Amino acid sequence: MCGIMGYVGSSKAAPILLEGLAKLEYRGYDSAGIAVFDKDINIAKAKGRLQILSDMVDGGEKIEGCMGIGHTRWATHGEPSDVNSHPHYSQNKTFAIVHNGIIENYLKLKNELMEKGFKFVSQTDTEIVANLLEYYYNGNILDTIIKATSRLEGSYALGILCQDDKNNFYAVRKDSPLIIGLGKGENYIASDIPAILSRTRSVYMLEENEFAIISSDSVKIVDSNKQPIEKTVRTINWDVSAAEKGGYDSFMFKEIMEEPKAIRDTIHPRLSDDSIVLDDITLTKEQLEKFNKIYIVGCGSAYHVGMVGKYIMEKHLRIPVEVMIASEFRYCDPIVDEKTLVIMISQSGETADTLAALRECKKRNARILSIVNVVGSSIANESNDVIYTWAGPEIAVATTKAYSTQLTVIYLIALYIADKLGKITKEELKQYITALRKLPDQVQQVIDKKDEIEALAKKYYQSSNVFFLGRNYDYAVAMEGSLKLKEISYIHSEAYAAGELKHGTISLIEDGTLVVSLATCDKLFDKMMSNVKEVKARGAVIFSLAKEGNKAVEQESDYVFYLPDTFDMLLPSLTVTPLQLFGYYVAKARGYDIDKPRNLAKSVTVE
Ligand code: G6P
Repeated sequence: MCGIMGYVGSSKAAPILLEGLAKLEYRGYDSAGIAVFDKDINIAKAKGRLQILSDMVDGGEKIEGCMGIGHTRWATHGEPSDVNSHPHYSQNKTFAIVHNGIIENYLKLKNELMEKGFKFVSQTDTEIVANLLEYYYNGNILDTIIKATSRLEGSYALGILCQDDKNNFYAVRKDSPLIIGLGKGENYIASDIPAILSRTRSVYMLEENEFAIISSDSVKIVDSNKQPIEKTVRTINWDVSAAEKGGYDSFMFKEIMEEPKAIRDTIHPRLSDDSIVLDDITLTKEQLEKFNKIYIVGCGSAYHVGMVGKYIMEKHLRIPVEVMIASEFRYCDPIVDEKTLVIMISQSGETADTLAALRECKKRNARILSIVNVVGSSIANESNDVIYTWAGPEIAVATTKAYSTQLTVIYLIALYIADKLGKITKEELKQYITALRKLPDQVQQVIDKKDEIEALAKKYYQSSNVFFLGRNYDYAVAMEGSLKLKEISYIHSEAYAAGELKHGTISLIEDGTLVVSLATCDKLFDKMMSNVKEVKARGAVIFSLAKEGNKAVEQESDYVFYLPDTFDMLLPSLTVTPLQLFGYYVAKARGYDIDKPRNLAKSVTVE
């Protein structure tokens, strides 16, 4: 989704804006632009990759001025084009703005402004905001921004320059992310931390309806009554190199390689010899005893983590667990109350549908526990409890290490609650803790065999259909494997509960169709093999994932990838990595842009 970067200081703004925007490319975009205040506000923008804009302005050197705003646009209103790119001027060029989000009442506002004689050059909802500012402008910029934004419905993070203020630029947000980076003699705004990580580690997380006035040596934040708001400076401890490619050909591959460390960082501090230590959550035993239902809610891969969570939690807690896609959940008038625990999963902490689903649950007094990667993000802020994944910045659109760390937090939560409620013995818990400690090394063992996956990908990269089958949590991981393949390699693929295939979809199996069979679940192994036989009999080529030592799988499979042994419940962490690698190698063999797959965005901050 759109990325915003802003700078004010004593250096030339344009190169800094371009550098920041480059770090936001992962969010997905189709055009880019910058506006820099010199004597006037100068805008340069272009459809296409950031490089096109950068070449146009000689890496920013052509543009004078030490204050500016920049944007990468992911089109919503109006096609990707030069004219629809941000920044947008207001009609008389008094204001220039960048925007992330969607103005839902833009048509009404547009008509209103057109009746007052305003003319529009783009098809965007953003230009309405620029002209609304112009319309309300009374010489006081802050008042004008407060007034204009009070008319907006929908979501927005805005960076604003005004022709009449050469020292400050302005920012405000509602339902779209924006952070403020604090430097020495210079300050920034950005949609996400990687944009400013090489420049500062001190940030304010701008919150809903807070207005920021930013100059090179001060950042003032006020509410809509212009009352000052005291903000806490947060220190970001992410490693700068974690947001750089560091010699790898893609962020996705680098991030898969980082999985052992990310998992270790996420789980080890939360393990003692005989208990799971979740200091981050304040739920008491009495509160846990009261829950009669658990919902797990997320989008995309986060939803798939929830699917694994359902199998694990229902087995160990014997509480009904429902997993919902956030965009469906938010509009289904969910039946949740104070006896419901709702687990929200989100890497970015800013996904619009997940955030909206959270708010629906809060209205109904449900208890919200979130699993989030970005510290201080909206979902984290609005939850009762947060357990952070310590995956570090994830840049590739297709999530890998964040998914893997989310899974491990699900294990921790399940075991923590099971222990508190006396659903497992201390001895069992100790065994799980020992197994959890081994998990990062076991993921490394899987990664060490990546050549096997590469060889398979090189054979099958021209497939037009691939099926992923599994039962129980293997089915949940199959869904993630299938998503990874289709999102970056553009091969049609489907995940099926193995027993369900014969109710229709088996008709798609032809001679040579690749079927990935996830066969790690001991108690369902024989059932799984019966399903594999069914597709094999219809010509499928079988690639199985199974636990080390399982020789029976070889009888039914053309290829087998063996996984280190662990508790069934922890196996999804080992099964998913080869599937992520398979997606990666297939996309690579097909020559695609792995980190920025077509039509996709990393952080989906609109509905
Ligand atoms: C996008 C990303 C996915 C991610 C999903 C949810 O679709 O491409 O990788 O799983 O959003 O994002 P979140 O930040 O809420 O985990």
